[in-house]
Amino acid sequence: MIVLGIETSCDETSAAILIDGKVKSNIISSQIIHQRYGGVVPELASRAHQKLIIPVVEKAIIDAGINKTQIDGVAVTYGPGLIGALLVGLNFAKAFAYGLKIPFVGVNHMQAHLYSNFIGKEKPEYPFVCLIVSGGHTQLVLVKEPFNHELLGETLDDAAGEAYDKVAKMLGLGFPGGPQLDKLAQIGDSNFVKFPRSYLSEDSFEFSFSGIKTSVLYWLKNRGYYPINENSKKLDVQQLSDLCASFQAAVVDVLVEKTMRAVEKYRVKHLTVSGGVSANSELRKRLLAAGNKSGVKVFIPDLEYCTDNGAMVAVVGWMLLERGVTSNYEIGAVANLSI
Ligand SMILES: Nc1ncnc2c1ncn2[C@@H]1O[C@H](COP(=O)(O)OP(=O)(O)OP(=O)(O)O)[C@@H](O)[C@H]1O
Ligand SMILES: [Mg+2]
Repeated sequence: MIVLGIETSCDETSAAILIDGKVKSNIISSQIIHQRYGGVVPELASRAHQKLIIPVVEKAIIDAGINKTQIDGVAVTYGPGLIGALLVGLNFAKAFAYGLKIPFVGVNHMQAHLYSNFIGKEKPEYPFVCLIVSGGHTQLVLVKEPFNHELLGETLDDAAGEAYDKVAKMLGLGFPGGPQLDKLAQIGDSNFVKFPRSYLSEDSFEFSFSGIKTSVLYWLKNRGYYPINENSKKLDVQQLSDLCASFQAAVVDVLVEKTMRAVEKYRVKHLTVSGGVSANSELRKRLLAAGNKSGVKVFIPDLEYCTDNGAMVAVVGWMLLERGVTSNYEIGAVANLSI
């Protein structure tokens, strides 16, 4: 079965071709227009998707070495995400499928992140725990069997990626700041500042990252480093790296501890991690080490499948189409769709 996967929920226009469950192409066009605003501007995202959707899909088809008439089904993200951005991909997918008289299926973006670990050769075995850490979500999910998910807990305020991006902005790093902050943290001292770890109650699988973010803000403000202007003090590279490492340690400590607690409580042998923040070097290292110590196999996607991509949408679409699940043309975009 050949599946075309389309993703336009935020600021990446992406399309992928999957042949019998294997990724043959995965084209990701990240919209750079948002960098100058320090965050995603929804209207600009929709317009950029409109410009990019056709060339991105065409390239995915060409790179996979197929003809579009060979495609058996189309999978597309229909939520959660920015409504205008979702509508571009969803309407394109409907038209594409209608034109070729093939089925199409709407895919939940969070399920796409969740199953991104099924892209690799070795697949996780059920039941497993999945930590989803992205720009808009931080969730611990117990996956009992395919499409049987129990949400164990999620963030009460900022998502992990959001906290990374907001702290990076305070530090004057670019957008999205997560990758840049991660890079600096690698050469920093995580004991420089002891930022608070928010574990909430002992048995809670919920998260809160706004406190850590505010602590960084006050640390900078109280010492004259923020707001950044011609009068503010400037951090040197070592101080900046030490601050990044200290912030990162606070976030990763909480993510790792709660995840391993869930693994222990539900006695699973496999753990998966996905979403943009699963690209984080420290989180990957620490979870692999924790898994090793407790005899749990940890699955983390290759970097290209951590942030938004069409391949993860195609994988879920393929799983649904194989089960005979399709969507009808009345399906609409759902901005706040839950997992
Ligand atoms: N190496 C890294 N370290 C920390 N954060 C990172 C890293 N790489 C990417 N990120 C963060 O990942 C986020 C983007 O991930 P993703 O594309 O999964 O999110 P999203 O699609 O915007 O949100 P959602 O999936 O919740 O709708 C950004 O916040 C970005 O800063
Ligand atoms: Mg995403």
